[in-house]
Amino acid sequence: MNFTQDFITQHLPQWDKLPVCPTILDIGTFEGSSAVWFYDNLCPDYLVTVDPKPKPIAEENFGGRDIQQVRLSSHEYLRDTVRTFDLIYIDGSHRGEDVLEDAILSYRVLEPRGFLIFDDYFWRVPRCEEYWAPPKVGIDAFLNLFGPKFETIHSGYQIILRLK
Ligand SMILES: C[S@@+](CC[C@H](N)C(=O)[O-])C[C@H]1O[C@@H](n2cnc3c(N)ncnc32)[C@H](O)[C@@H]1O
Repeated sequence: MNFTQDFITQHLPQWDKLPVCPTILDIGTFEGSSAVWFYDNLCPDYLVTVDPKPKPIAEENFGGRDIQQVRLSSHEYLRDTVRTFDLIYIDGSHRGEDVLEDAILSYRVLEPRGFLIFDDYFWRVPRCEEYWAPPKVGIDAFLNLFGPKFETIHSGYQIILRLK
């Protein structure tokens, strides 16, 4: 496998505690490292990863794994999907408003006791892009609206929620 960045190791203390998840949605394919980790460690029957512009190396990194790659934005995918998921990982657009939309659409297709994982809670907007709201603004808005429906499993750079 060929990954130019390590997006995984820092999350392993939390991810290693996740149970087997039959259906998984990975938002933000990039080079495929989170999709590969979920596939290899959470034994899904169905794993889909969505990204309008994944890196070409992702396909090679998936090797023989049965990972469905969808080249759409998460919003396009989530609005139309008829599937439900046991775990949804939100690591796509870093704009706060997009993260909020990802979260609300994901909530609609999350199985009872399903996991919703947000990356980048403390990610900071680059100075040249000051008009962005960072992910935290979207995540906090979602928590204000939907927080009581979830149990918080972890709160740090990632927020891991589980539907009650
Ligand atoms: C930080 S990378 C994801 C890293 C990946 N989860 C991993 O661990 O290897 C973010 C990715 O999200 C994608 N992205 C941006 N906006 C998106 C959207 N609206 N829907 C889905 N993916 C999006 C980008 O193209 C980029 O490849």
